[in-house]
Amino acid sequence: MYFEKHVFVCENLRQGGRECCAEKKSVELRGVLKRRAKEVLREAGLKRRIRINGAACLDRCEEGPVAVVYPEGHWFRLRDADEIERFATSYLKDGDLSAVEDLRLSDLHPTERPRG
Ligand code: FES
Repeated sequence: MYFEKHVFVCENLRQGGRECCAEKKSVELRGVLKRRAKEVLREAGLKRRIRINGAACLDRCEEGPVAVVYPEGHWFRLRDADEIERFATSYLKDGDLSAVEDLRLSDLHPTERPRG
């Protein structure tokens, strides 16, 4: 696999109508994430192949700012620098998904979720 983890952060900006991630500061948050992920991995002496890219709308606008990580297909809402720090340290560096459980969104598409 080319990247161990490939993170896409929605940076979509929409004028009027449905809300969007860019109006919730996702562009700035992606910048913070890129910088902190690089620092955290370097400080730990890890050479992980982790890529963090901006993305257009991921169609979860009301849940944003959203990010998705492949190959796992895990979805997150990352709202501020503290959440970014925990995501970079606990998840990207340590691989501890349980430490970021409160930041997660459902990984299932609404059509796949159990009805109840
Ligand atoms: S604007 Fe971010 S998911 Fe649609």
